[in-house]
Amino acid sequence: MRAPDGPPVTAGDVLLSIDNVSLSFGGVKAVSGVSFDIRKGEIRAIIGPNGAGKTSMLNIINGFYHPQEGVITFKGEARARMRPHDAADGGIARTFQNVALFRGMTALDNIMAGRTLKMRRNMFWQMLRIGPALAEEVEHRHRVEEIIDFLKIQEIRRTPVSRLPYGLQKRVELGRALAMEPELLLLDEPMAGMNIEEKEDMSRFILDVNDHYGTTIALIEHDMGVVMDLSDRVVVLDHGIKIADGTPNEVKSNQAVIDAYLGVAH
Ligand SMILES: Nc1ncnc2c1ncn2[C@@H]1O[C@H](COP(=O)(O)OP(=O)(O)O)[C@@H](O)[C@H]1O
Ligand SMILES: [Mg+2]
Repeated sequence: MRAPDGPPVTAGDVLLSIDNVSLSFGGVKAVSGVSFDIRKGEIRAIIGPNGAGKTSMLNIINGFYHPQEGVITFKGEARARMRPHDAADGGIARTFQNVALFRGMTALDNIMAGRTLKMRRNMFWQMLRIGPALAEEVEHRHRVEEIIDFLKIQEIRRTPVSRLPYGLQKRVELGRALAMEPELLLLDEPMAGMNIEEKEDMSRFILDVNDHYGTTIALIEHDMGVVMDLSDRVVVLDHGIKIADGTPNEVKSNQAVIDAYLGVAH
């Protein structure tokens, strides 16, 4: 795989690195001097008690927030100030802590919406629906159908998402992110609010995504069992500071991590 303007990226290479990044909102330091990296093909969990700075970190990675300090390097290139749609163009997609779908639209159309970022042809062709735009639309449909098959949501493809159970809404949202063909997928609590069966389903899809689509995942998740099962490496934040970084087993037995979790009611 070769980045458009960067060096080749192969499995195990560092895809994204965060170096000494700090972000404040007025007086609140959401993230303080945090450094870690994400390697190609891994599932990298970001965990920590509520208010630890996890969502802020994802918003920094996808360019929604610009940190006051630090450097973010994606595919070997230090990144300048960017906007979220630059992130999508550059191969980063995300799902949200609270489902953010077009509620009146069908599952199919929501996933198709993820493709609009890939639409390159001009409006003229799209209105005529001929020539290059038609070929492109066929290609989009094909990709979307493939994602629908992968996520096993054929039966609900024509259902407005507002009528779907929560677990399936989250799955549609994953589908929309995949439709952007990301290299890096950011998942903010993809299993929050799910029952055990829904969690097991979602875990299986998350495990399969990297193999099937060649992606890399940054995952925020509260359920420690899920984190232990899914992730290759875990970074732990507490009050905006990185307190641990390692394999799930290393992190689980780390005293600072145990203290951080005991100190905060969930
Ligand atoms: N847009 C914002 N404006 C002001 N404060 C914010 C904003 N986003 C997050 N914060 C604050 O930053 C800290 C980290 O929040 P967040 O990243 O959402 O934590 P987490 O996702 O780990 O629960 C919290 O103290 C939160 O109140
Ligand atoms: Mg959060």
